[in-house]
Amino acid sequence: MIRRYSFGTPCDTGAVVLSLPEEKGKMPYFDVRREGEKVLFRTQLTEEETVFGLGENVRGINKRGHRYRSWNSDDFNHTEDRQSIYASHNLLVFFRPDRLFGVYFDDPGLVIYDLGDARRDTAEIVSENGDLNVYLLEGADLKEIAKLFRGLTGRSYLPPEWAFGYIQSRWGYASEREVRAVAEEHRKRHIPLDGICMDIDYMEGYRNFTWKKDAFPDLKAFVRSMKEEHIRLIPIIDAGIKTEEGYGPYDSGKEGGFFCKKADGTDFVAAVWPGRCCFPDFLREDARKWFGDLYRPLLEAGIEGFWNDMNEPALFYSDETLAQAFALAETLKGKELDLSENWAIKDAFNAVANNPEDYRRFYHVMDGRNVRHDKVHNLYGAGMTRASADGMRRFRPGERYLLFSRSSFVGAHRDGGVWQGDNFSWWSHLKMAMQMLPNMNLCGFLFCGCDLGGFGCSTTEDLLERFLQLGVFTPLMRNHSALHTREQEIYRFSIWETMRDTVTVRYALLPYLYSEYMKAALTDSMLFRPLAFDYPEDRRAVRTEDQLMLGGECMIAPVYEQNAEGRYVYLPEDMLMIRFRSAQDYDLIPMEKGDHYISLGLGEFPLFVRNGHAVPLCRGGENVDEIKTDRLKMIGKVENEAVYDLYRDDGISEKVGMDGNITRIRVGKQELVSDIELKPDR
Ligand code: NOJ
Repeated sequence: MIRRYSFGTPCDTGAVVLSLPEEKGKMPYFDVRREGEKVLFRTQLTEEETVFGLGENVRGINKRGHRYRSWNSDDFNHTEDRQSIYASHNLLVFFRPDRLFGVYFDDPGLVIYDLGDARRDTAEIVSENGDLNVYLLEGADLKEIAKLFRGLTGRSYLPPEWAFGYIQSRWGYASEREVRAVAEEHRKRHIPLDGICMDIDYMEGYRNFTWKKDAFPDLKAFVRSMKEEHIRLIPIIDAGIKTEEGYGPYDSGKEGGFFCKKADGTDFVAAVWPGRCCFPDFLREDARKWFGDLYRPLLEAGIEGFWNDMNEPALFYSDETLAQAFALAETLKGKELDLSENWAIKDAFNAVANNPEDYRRFYHVMDGRNVRHDKVHNLYGAGMTRASADGMRRFRPGERYLLFSRSSFVGAHRDGGVWQGDNFSWWSHLKMAMQMLPNMNLCGFLFCGCDLGGFGCSTTEDLLERFLQLGVFTPLMRNHSALHTREQEIYRFSIWETMRDTVTVRYALLPYLYSEYMKAALTDSMLFRPLAFDYPEDRRAVRTEDQLMLGGECMIAPVYEQNAEGRYVYLPEDMLMIRFRSAQDYDLIPMEKGDHYISLGLGEFPLFVRNGHAVPLCRGGENVDEIKTDRLKMIGKVENEAVYDLYRDDGISEKVGMDGNITRIRVGKQELVSDIELKPDR
């Protein structure tokens, strides 16, 4: 059951697709009070309570014990003390033996969540603007709450099948020659590959929708020849449009009046990569249409997928914030700084970027009204996602496209995926990437993944290998790194063959991973789940923070510690461990419910299959087009019979459903593995 409560004058955030009558009575579970503009929601937490939700955010799977904020931020420093990163996914699920409910705060502005931070026994959620709808979700179990939420907010995005291939990316690829070299190295060494991302250096002076004509003299031919090798190019697009007369997107945006304006009616301007930029008003339908059409030249060149960046929006500085910092510097010039001046000058220059004052300086037009940006800040990235998704849908009707964004809000899960932003090459970020996955799935974002190897600072061989072992299972499997860090393509490392072998597992498991993804999307369920969702009565399982359920059959338990030669795993039931070294080389070890130490040398990683289930493994391939599902190995410990519903489709059509796309595979009692033959899938 879902109930809606309304506070103040909520706007349509685009998150919710169900229209529900407003409940008039007192809202259960919370003490609600208003303080000025703010609305506060308070509830008691028992010792046993677990709190899931908040999608992409820092800290563990159980969000309890920290303070978080919904305020989409371009903040690359994802340390434990952070309260928000790039997304606002305002769903919480409170879970304990005697109560279970979900609550969604449909609020586009700043929301603060104290989930047992000030007091361990109290959760308090504060809507700063006080204009919001709150949805209460009640169901029989955690899975039902997740399903209800998807019913409320709509079906998750369906990517094309090729998007499940391995993608290589790096900030710095600046020419066709460089990109070709990356492709060639992969193909030469038989490292599977389906895509290469083009970061901002493909553009002419970082201007969106342009490309360097000398470095990419014939983009269309280049895209075509890469595609012949089964490699898609995936360019980046940023939110800001360079303010420069004669540059098409700026001129047309200006002419249409599509940029966000200040109170005096002039365009708001702040710097990003290309220098001073204007910011499309993605909350307006006509501006979205205009922006979506700007993708056309790239689509006409054959591009089938994009990543959208800097859409919180990130602001490097505005003239105003810069002037303030320089003014302070002027007053301190020539002085010996005392401690407070020393701090002040540092703070002033740090504050030129993403300054809260700047977010109050410009307006959107919503339903004919001017709305100050900070009131609806968290909708910006989702608006950009929608603009580009619609642009691609218009260009290639009926076909799926690849799209992933940095910033997001619930609702954007219908139009695209997300990546987890600028992590570091830190072991702790490998763990955090894993912990974000189930909460992102809970909030509808199924197509997600992190920068494998770590984006900031230099990775090491073992760290990249362990990141790849997680990436094998994430829908978006992309190796991405920052400019000036150690080069991070697999072939740069002495253990590249080990890394390649790891990637081959992705391709052998692809029929399963694609099938589970599509079934999760089409049935409004989750691909990654906290163990609590499947074993709610098992306290150990509920408290497990470093293992995840994957699809209907499996559990993963990645290694995330430096120099580890194995790890402890808790099995909530008997399972079969597949210890992978490559698509062809793996051990099958039946294991009993309980605690185990599992040895996992650097090139080894486990997948656990629930007893009585079986998962398909195919021969693999070097790209998704090579994947065939006519001959599969079904792996599982089966005493009687296992049934697996394999989802297959043409990998590209937009109109798909479960009907007609499921092949039911029955596996009888077996010695862990059996070979089966199916009708070819394409
Ligand atoms: C920030 C993004 O998060 C990162 O992935 C990208 O490489 C840089 N912008 C440069 O475009």
